[in-house]
Amino acid sequence: MPLTPVLTKRFGTNAPWLIDNYEALDGYVALRKAFATPPGDLITLMKESNLRGRGGAGFPTGMKWDFIPKNDGKPHYVVINADEGEPGTCRDLPLMMNDPHSMLEGIIIACYAVGAQHAFIYIRGEAVHAIRRVTIAVQEAYARGYLGDNVLGSGTRFDITVHGGAGAYICGEETALLDSLEGKRGQPRLKPPFPATNGLYDAPTVVNNVGTLCSVPYIVLGGAAWHKEQIAPSKVAWTEDWNDRNPANKLNDPYGSPGTSIFSLSGRIKNPGQYEAPMGTTLRELIEMAGGMSRGHELKFWTPGGASCPLLTIDHLDVPLDFDAVAKVGSINGTSAIMIFDTEDSIVKAVLKWTQFYEHESCGKCTPCREGNYWTAQILERFVHGEGTEEDVDKLLDISDNILGRSFCALGDGAVSSIMSSIKYFRDDFLALVKPENRRAPEKTPVHEGGPLLAGATA
Ligand SMILES: Cc1cc2nc3c(=O)[nH]c(=O)nc-3n(C[C@H](O)[C@H](O)[C@H](O)COP(=O)(O)O)c2cc1C
Ligand code: SF4
Repeated sequence: MPLTPVLTKRFGTNAPWLIDNYEALDGYVALRKAFATPPGDLITLMKESNLRGRGGAGFPTGMKWDFIPKNDGKPHYVVINADEGEPGTCRDLPLMMNDPHSMLEGIIIACYAVGAQHAFIYIRGEAVHAIRRVTIAVQEAYARGYLGDNVLGSGTRFDITVHGGAGAYICGEETALLDSLEGKRGQPRLKPPFPATNGLYDAPTVVNNVGTLCSVPYIVLGGAAWHKEQIAPSKVAWTEDWNDRNPANKLNDPYGSPGTSIFSLSGRIKNPGQYEAPMGTTLRELIEMAGGMSRGHELKFWTPGGASCPLLTIDHLDVPLDFDAVAKVGSINGTSAIMIFDTEDSIVKAVLKWTQFYEHESCGKCTPCREGNYWTAQILERFVHGEGTEEDVDKLLDISDNILGRSFCALGDGAVSSIMSSIKYFRDDFLALVKPENRRAPEKTPVHEGGPLLAGATA
């Protein structure tokens, strides 16, 4: 399986973050082409390309842009989600460090398409290096006339503001991000209304991920048909096979989530890192690209899209990694952050670490998440210290069930993904940590005075 550099095509070239070098490699050509296209046609192009947001939910980008009201006389905004806090994810930072101008070009095109003149890039606070790099790129873009008054003779002014967050995972959730950007405590807002009508400063706002916006210039240059062709052959074959075996549960469109994605591979593989490949590439293919498993042990469990997605196992090695196929097997493609564990790794310890992360990052706004994650972390800790009981496994599932779908935002759902899926696939690993004295007593047979009840006998 070859690598397919599109988003990463400038990585490794001479200082691609400098505007001169960016321009020398087709930089800002797509912007000129976009300005010669009516905004409505750009939105149609995005819709036809089937680009789906790379921030985790896979929402269709063209549809999101189209939700922005037209001719409403209000200011519109584009906000770039560069918070990148999902455990295992490392895609937006390399994009911003290596190719910040492709993100800026995508942002200006998005602004033009949705009638916005001001964009805000919200970057994770700890990523000071990325904040510096993007700030310098923005200054270069102003100096070169891609930002400021009358950009490229369009008669329109475009501005970009770079904003550093303070390192809270919840500020990656788009409405918490908007509150944080407005100077408030970053907590999710009640939806509806959605950001498309009531976003930043209560005005219509598009919130897009870095990877989503970096894809935009390539689609403007390559066209919708080209983008739809960016799909792994294994996806097409898998779709046919799946439809044969699951006629009632078909997956008809192999082109449903095309484009390339940067898969962040970490854990027990020989060469961890970022691998750009078409959507629909399988984990088996990615592990091959990364030189195989690192310790000679077999794959045991893995996350297809970060810690918030239900775990998958060795049985899912050939599932195409895109939004539709991964959903069909009960997980989420998420951010394409693949953490790989082998048979020597303790799944209970891994789940404890993730749960402690969510316990710490819960914003506290709603009870199921604030209290539930505290409880599940405590129970998991008991297991790791050999103090868990068989009943605790059911208690974990019960608490998780009270968080899932009952929390105010998707952090709660994500927090219990690893707990519920690990028990689904590896319940015995939890039970193996239960000391004999903490095991359930064997089921007792009801005893009648005259001996055990026989079928059909009456007491
Ligand atoms: C707890 C939580 C954290 C999130 N963190 C991020 C993040 O760091 N970056 C991101 O782009 N999206 C993140 N999202 C998803 C955003 O809410 C939103 O869906 C995304 O920015 C939309 O961009 P897209 O349409 O381009 O994918 C997060 C969601 C939740 C619930
Ligand atoms: S689910 Fe968690 S993070 Fe989301 S609002 Fe509730 S407490 Fe906050």
